[in-house]
Amino acid sequence: MSIGSTTLPLVEQNVTFHPPQLAVIVPSYNERENIELLYEKVAIALGDVAWEMIVVDDNSPDGTAEVVNELSRVYANVRCLRRFGRRGLASACVEGMAVTSAPYVAVIDADLQHDEAILPEMLRKALDGADLVVGSRFAEGGSAGDGLSSTRLSGSNLANKLAGMIAGQAVSDPMSGFFLIRREAALKAAPKLASDGFKILIDLIVTSARMGAPLKVAEVPYTFRPRHAGESKMSPLVVIQYLGLWFSKLTNGALPPSFLLFGLVGGTGVVVHLATLAAFTAVGQGFVVSQIAATLIAMAWNFVLNNNLTYADRKLRGTRLITGFLSFCAICALGGIANISVANAIYQWDHQTFIAGLSGAVMSSVFNYAVTRAFTWK
Ligand code: GDD
Ligand code: MN
Repeated sequence: MSIGSTTLPLVEQNVTFHPPQLAVIVPSYNERENIELLYEKVAIALGDVAWEMIVVDDNSPDGTAEVVNELSRVYANVRCLRRFGRRGLASACVEGMAVTSAPYVAVIDADLQHDEAILPEMLRKALDGADLVVGSRFAEGGSAGDGLSSTRLSGSNLANKLAGMIAGQAVSDPMSGFFLIRREAALKAAPKLASDGFKILIDLIVTSARMGAPLKVAEVPYTFRPRHAGESKMSPLVVIQYLGLWFSKLTNGALPPSFLLFGLVGGTGVVVHLATLAAFTAVGQGFVVSQIAATLIAMAWNFVLNNNLTYADRKLRGTRLITGFLSFCAICALGGIANISVANAIYQWDHQTFIAGLSGAVMSSVFNYAVTRAFTWK
């Protein structure tokens, strides 16, 4: 091969190079004790399949990325995509898929809960024509084993039911974090996926169908194992984010998941505002002072909740927390002005207090959402 006038001896270097047929994407956060064992198990399972492993690590404090980099110096088919200042399981998977040239990509958790031994069968089903092959705990022959506590199992059942309502097709384990997909099909849906979720599989299924390219789905049963080392990142936040994703899909994507969370947070902010107002007036403060205090406290409340919930994937920290709070207050103040002017204009027009008030509130919520998303949590 020659580039310009330089001739590169690439052909010689590449005699043993087999382009990967399968990329195994491993999203990771604090998984340093699991990666090497996972690599070895996947290598054994895949035998002579040309494969590569791409670990997408959100700069884990436990140094997972360094462990992967060391592994890359031993095995040529391992790489780490390290992301900074961001968190998120779904976006990690998508970015891992975008990095590879392999025609098939599998997503597997780092903690050895998924049974890597079924990977060859998953690949076979894809080669036989499935766009998506789901590793399923609930298909005939599969089991959630000891991998899920009883609370997690009932939560999982409920989540599955909700998923069934939006999936548009029968999938026994729509919450699975273990699946194999044709890379092109995944990347086609990628720009329309909700990047801030934990549940990418259901999103891939629904989004592809809504784009007019429903995925042909196959399943391979397996037994879910308990986590090897480290801790689960499942949290109440993940549950709330899933509900946001679900509502968003119900509205056909008209409302982004983060808008719903922003709205929910705003709703709790109103309660905080009224409670503070009541508390201040109860201890004898004048109305104006109480209202100012209630406004500031409610804004701080909304900011903290949005930073930790709505925008958990791009959480502001350190000095950015302070500048972020200031920009949030400034934008909400503008939103308040917009609210009052819109409400007043509508009131002048039809003299319906409730409609005018509600329109102003909706208008400022949309304004605050759109503008803080663009400036505060850009
Ligand atoms: N890069 C990145 N960023 N990876 C993450 C993040 C993140 O913010 N959060 C979690 N991960 C990685 C973990 O390191 C692990 O490899 C994988 O994603 C799954 O996270 P766990 O914390 O082990 O999740 P879980 O076991 O509670 O949930 C798993 O099983 C569920 C089924 O019960 C996941 O596979 C879920 O998707 C699945 O629904
Ligand atoms: Mn796990």
